Amino acid sequence: MNTTKEQWSSRFGFIMAAAGSAIGLGNLWKFPYVAGTNGGAVFLLLYIIFLMLLGIPILLSELAIGRSGGMNAIDSCKKINPKWGFAGAFGIAGAFGVMSSYCVVGGWVIRYIINSFANGGANMNAEYFSDFSSRGFEPILWTFIFMAATCFIVAGGVTKGIERVSSVLLPILIVFLIGIMIYSLTLPGALKGVKFFIVPDFAEIGGFSGFIRIALNAMGQVFFSLSLGMGTLITYGSYLPKNSKLVSSTVTIIAMDTAIALAAGFAILPAVFSFGLEPDGGFGLIFQTLPVVFSQMNGGTFVAAAFFLLVLFAALTSSISLLEVIVAWVCAKTKLTRTWAAVIVSVLIFAVGCFASLSVGAVPELSVGGMNLFEFFSFLSDKIIMPLGGFFICLLTGWVWGIPKAEEEISNSGAIRFRARKLFSATVRYIAPMLIAVIFITSIFGGK
Ligand code: PFF
Repeated sequence: MNTTKEQWSSRFGFIMAAAGSAIGLGNLWKFPYVAGTNGGAVFLLLYIIFLMLLGIPILLSELAIGRSGGMNAIDSCKKINPKWGFAGAFGIAGAFGVMSSYCVVGGWVIRYIINSFANGGANMNAEYFSDFSSRGFEPILWTFIFMAATCFIVAGGVTKGIERVSSVLLPILIVFLIGIMIYSLTLPGALKGVKFFIVPDFAEIGGFSGFIRIALNAMGQVFFSLSLGMGTLITYGSYLPKNSKLVSSTVTIIAMDTAIALAAGFAILPAVFSFGLEPDGGFGLIFQTLPVVFSQMNGGTFVAAAFFLLVLFAALTSSISLLEVIVAWVCAKTKLTRTWAAVIVSVLIFAVGCFASLSVGAVPELSVGGMNLFEFFSFLSDKIIMPLGGFFICLLTGWVWGIPKAEEEISNSGAIRFRARKLFSATVRYIAPMLIAVIFITSIFGGK
């Protein structure tokens, strides 16, 4: 069933690929605007709590399931219990959904890089974004280019494609982002943005339903940002050698992802406040407000181009992980070669992505329940599929597989001490699934 077994060539390569999957548009594009529209620091506080209670146990469980199974997301879950393949299937369906809107945003980013170089970025104001994103054909062309680049890397394979590209792009991204953050923090009036980001204003929450809304958004963001509940980490875990250290890898990936999300908040929000712009601009935040900020800086053209290039790198290392989840499964189930599997899946995602792109402006009738298709896909994936996927991963690990067997895998059969065993057991069996269920149900009945 499985073709030749692929494996990461080094621990560094795996960490870069897994952290590269986690660090993406979720950190640079989504985190600052979701924090901005959800009360800033209150959101941040809940985000950190969910990171501990949900992020750590689920990420560790996914890596353990993947390494133990050594196969794609569905088959690795089935290996634990033949009836539980559906837990991995959430990931494959979700990856398809996320990818169809991810590739649209990836396309916008490419457009912004080119425009920064071509026109010095001076024309990239709020109108530019709405005008460009609502054109029919043009954004589709950029979506296509982004999808083709993703396909090309995944077709190259695990070590030669994914690992190699991530190992180069992620370190560049970190250096760029630190530079932009330092610049942003030294702008006049930057402190207001820092305060908004880290000092909670509980008066701004808006009662119980407001709190639930913020909690749901914070939970969705933890899932999205860490690539959880999507089979990505099961798939990446399946390429790990048996002697790899799962706990320390989990901690490193989470620490890197959080550091980058915080750095993005510190790079973007102070600049937004310093230039008197609004932090709650929604999903256009980095597209509508940042270019305005850049255009007022010395050397702004260069900074704008560098920033959007960085966003593109981050987006690519994540989109390849999404495509890989589906490709790994298709390769195992069919006789297709990796290249053909990557091409066919990419074409299908692109086809759905075209509708998502058109729904943003050109054809607003493409909507479901008051949301355009683009918003609907991301609602479905980060508020429904990912938390449900995570919920079932917890049940699978904590109850079906059982803590003793999971511990056996995590501790490399006792070769490494698993000190947090009790904590892991409590979170994966009780706290995480209950938390997901409570937030999920209250958001349906109590919040909005
Ligand atoms: N974690 C990515 C980001 O923050 O942009 C998005 C993502 C990648 C979500 C892979 C889910 C996934 F499986």
